[in-house]
Amino acid sequence: MKSINIGLLGCGTVGTGVAKLLMGNKALLSARVGAELNLKWAADVDTEAERKITFAEGVFTTNARQVIDDPQVDIIVEMIGGQGIAMQLIQQAIENGKHVVTANKALLASRGNELFTAAARQGVDLAFEAAVGGCMPIIKTMRESLAGNHIQAMTGILNGTCNYILSRITDAGISFEAALAEAQQEGYAEADPTLDVEGFDAAHKTAILGALAYGMEINLNDVYIEGISSVTPLDIEFAGQFGYRIKLLAISKMTNGMVESRVHPTMIPRDNLLSNVNGTLNAITITGDAVGEIMLYGHGAGMMPTASAVISDIVDIARNLLCTAPRRVPPLAYQRNSIRKIPVLPMEELISNYYFRFSALDQPGVLSKISGILGEYNISIHYVHQKGRKTNGAVPVVMITHRVKEADVKQALAEIQNLKVVSKEPVLIRIEDAHME
Ligand code: HSE
Repeated sequence: MKSINIGLLGCGTVGTGVAKLLMGNKALLSARVGAELNLKWAADVDTEAERKITFAEGVFTTNARQVIDDPQVDIIVEMIGGQGIAMQLIQQAIENGKHVVTANKALLASRGNELFTAAARQGVDLAFEAAVGGCMPIIKTMRESLAGNHIQAMTGILNGTCNYILSRITDAGISFEAALAEAQQEGYAEADPTLDVEGFDAAHKTAILGALAYGMEINLNDVYIEGISSVTPLDIEFAGQFGYRIKLLAISKMTNGMVESRVHPTMIPRDNLLSNVNGTLNAITITGDAVGEIMLYGHGAGMMPTASAVISDIVDIARNLLCTAPRRVPPLAYQRNSIRKIPVLPMEELISNYYFRFSALDQPGVLSKISGILGEYNISIHYVHQKGRKTNGAVPVVMITHRVKEADVKQALAEIQNLKVVSKEPVLIRIEDAHME
């Protein structure tokens, strides 16, 4: 049986999971591929880590360059992460004619266009199923299963750390800080959680998905990003009273030839399937003109779920190699000469429903002052609610709007914040509710 040689760069959590599957499921993989997938190298600078895996003699190395320069290696699997050495190694591997598998969403979102161009020039595959949604087969679904569709919308929970934190605030009524500390203790959140909680990780994934969906270049700057660090138990409680839950959603839509691409805390109806995706789980709904709506659900992170996605890429490339058809499926779902620039809807032009919470003095005329300013900016109120509970002399006044323009909302809230009767910066949370006008 033919052998396909794999060079693994990075034996951290996911890299070790990949090695475990390659070794533990060897016979299964051979049966499915028609060739032996041989882990020829596993490289990592850390020789001390407790990996609970025994590599065959001569497989482990601390020299990544030796791996990418080995003429016998067919596929390089980059599991190092970050944008420094990982970029250099992938670039060199591509130059050396190796096919590459990576899970590095931050790198692809920032420098993907360069890498995909280089891979096309060299005629090699660059596969990245594990970069978005962990084990959920979203990349293959976009690239292959939905090839017959114009993609109209994607709405996803793409960051497990944020979903865990929001689920804990919702279920236990604890603060963001307490929920984050819990996520760190459980090993879900990084010691520096900024990438996750400020929405950047979800934005990286959204930028990649936008390219696959619409045939555009990857552009992280096109994604509007707002994280979850300012979401409070109070707003989650109000959301519940209106029949909503708050999720960090990645939303990407194609409307009238323009792409809308945003990541922010969002209220969604409790009976929306995404409302019931809790803990560290990820999910995404995709709407296509032929297929209607479909949904994927699963673990967005973790050793073996992520390794499962990486192995699926290795299997694809190995199968292509066996029938000498590399790049049979274009990595970004579109042929390179069809990838174009698509205008992006500026966030100020967004039309949405909004939730506002004002901290206002409980005095006659306060509501009319607030609603007067909203009226001046054409912001039509669907619902107003004042909770008669004072904190430092102020009461929360909550409003839900009809569909209005983001630019008007921003200007109105800036004016309202300057009112003497309003004591804090107003809270704004966008609502995605198909039943609201
Ligand atoms: N840190 C991510 C998450 C997983 O919490 O979902 C990797 O993208």
